[in-house]
Amino acid sequence: MTAQITVGGPELTQERRLVTEIPGPRSREILERKASAVARSVGHTLPIIADAAGGGTLVDVDGNSFIDLGSGIAVTSVGNSNPRVVNAVREQLDRFTHTAFTVVPYESYIAVAEKLNEITPGDFTKRTALFNSGSEAVENAVKVARRATGRQAIVAFEHSFHGRTNLAMALTAKSAPYKQGFGPFA
Ligand SMILES: Cc1ncc(COP(=O)(O)O)c(C=O)c1O
Repeated sequence: MTAQITVGGPELTQERRLVTEIPGPRSREILERKASAVARSVGHTLPIIADAAGGGTLVDVDGNSFIDLGSGIAVTSVGNSNPRVVNAVREQLDRFTHTAFTVVPYESYIAVAEKLNEITPGDFTKRTALFNSGSEAVENAVKVARRATGRQAIVAFEHSFHGRTNLAMALTAKSAPYKQGFGPFA
């Protein structure tokens, strides 16, 4: 059975509803294309293909509805397609998609920096730089710390995960599966 899903957002019925086996026929078809087209190193946890998501619910291409405990690894914590997020993104896209802040700056970057400076711990003067991913932020934090202190050593905790780029991976304690076969490390 195939459900007609045309819209995401929080108006999706917030329910778990299975209407096919998992994965359903349409998901299986697309996953076969994934196996042919996407590098094998890019795995997935749940063998379904997402079609829409809203609030805490995710709907696949076969019309199955799931409670989205994965939350994009805890990054849709205000709900998938939260209207305030969607409207802010839409408004920005209508204005411009990209200038590269280091070429031509824009106010929203500065407003985010001001907000982060305000809500993060510490009553000292703070400044913020934004990066594209956690790994990039970790790598840049190491660069900033080294340049500021003139020292080299970095402390990382046991059981830590810091990312998949080369230095973030070196700092990551969990060897399997993140570091296996990728050495030598910094
Ligand atoms: C604690 C921590 N550091 C770094 C990262 C790496 O972030 P990204 O996957 O955005 O590069 C993650 C992401 O899972 C993380 O949980």
